[in-house]
Amino acid sequence: MTKHLLKLLDLTESDILNILDTADQLKSELKSGKPHDFPPGKTLAMIFEKNSTRTRVSFEVGIFQLGGHGLFLTSGDSQIGRGESIADTARVLSRYCDCIMIRTYSQDTVEALAEYATIPVINGLTDFAHPCQILGDLMTIREHKGKLRGLKVSFIGDGNNVANSLIVGCLKCGIDIAIASPAGSEPDVRVLDFAKTVTDAKFTLTTDPKEAAKDSDVIFTDVWASMGQESEAAERRKIFAGYQVNDSLMALAKPDCMVQHCLPAHKGEEITEAVFEAHAEEIFDEAENRLHVQKAVMYLLMRG
Ligand code: CP
Ligand code: NVA
Repeated sequence: MTKHLLKLLDLTESDILNILDTADQLKSELKSGKPHDFPPGKTLAMIFEKNSTRTRVSFEVGIFQLGGHGLFLTSGDSQIGRGESIADTARVLSRYCDCIMIRTYSQDTVEALAEYATIPVINGLTDFAHPCQILGDLMTIREHKGKLRGLKVSFIGDGNNVANSLIVGCLKCGIDIAIASPAGSEPDVRVLDFAKTVTDAKFTLTTDPKEAAKDSDVIFTDVWASMGQESEAAERRKIFAGYQVNDSLMALAKPDCMVQHCLPAHKGEEITEAVFEAHAEEIFDEAENRLHVQKAVMYLLMRG
């Protein structure tokens, strides 16, 4: 296992499977009331420079269930908002805490935090990546389908942080992945370059949602305007109008196709209410599994 969880590009398939196996074990221990084998009193600093419901609650509940404590920090109420550098923040938090989780804008901020911290750093979402989300998604897919290798996943919509991490996570686990995004909204070039190096799973990038959705085992989507793009929402609604996960798109996928959405959802935009509700159980399993998979990440990074 790596020292940090900054992006899935840094992990091997066996790192990912180790996290998923550990998450399955921690989930089963929690459900059966069995205590986790984790040293008590560990502390997690959680820095949020963007909003969150799932990530905040699942990390705070997760560290508590592991016998530790989470500290919620925002740039507004810490000295980060008054300009204290990431390097100094990293060195200070390293003297008090056992791990840092950060949600911010630039991937460079997370990488810099990890460079200066002497404790593990976890990426809780940047504009580039959302590794914890995709680990939870892979856990959910494996629970429902019984396997990962050989499946076909598609993602319909913006080539954003979720799409970037999904491509990497799927290809590393032997899952074929097709992305349908409008021209100009493609995934990050670093991810497209990685995809070119993969030989044991197929990557497709198209502007046609129907081509991507065809024969899918799992269809993913995400909001058309991510955090930080709120002022572009009206313009983006026009650009992405043809990229909705609806009944006619679902009809092209396999009959037992799952739907995954990282949430929050804008129903009526990237997904219809009908498709969302028909797949609500899978989508809320996905949200739940954020808890188990992040506990697994903390367990592997912090246990020492
Ligand atoms: N999916 C996800 O990361 O949700 P939050 O923004 O609520 O944390
Ligand atoms: N792409 C979305 C994901 C939210 C969990 C965003 O960055 O806002």
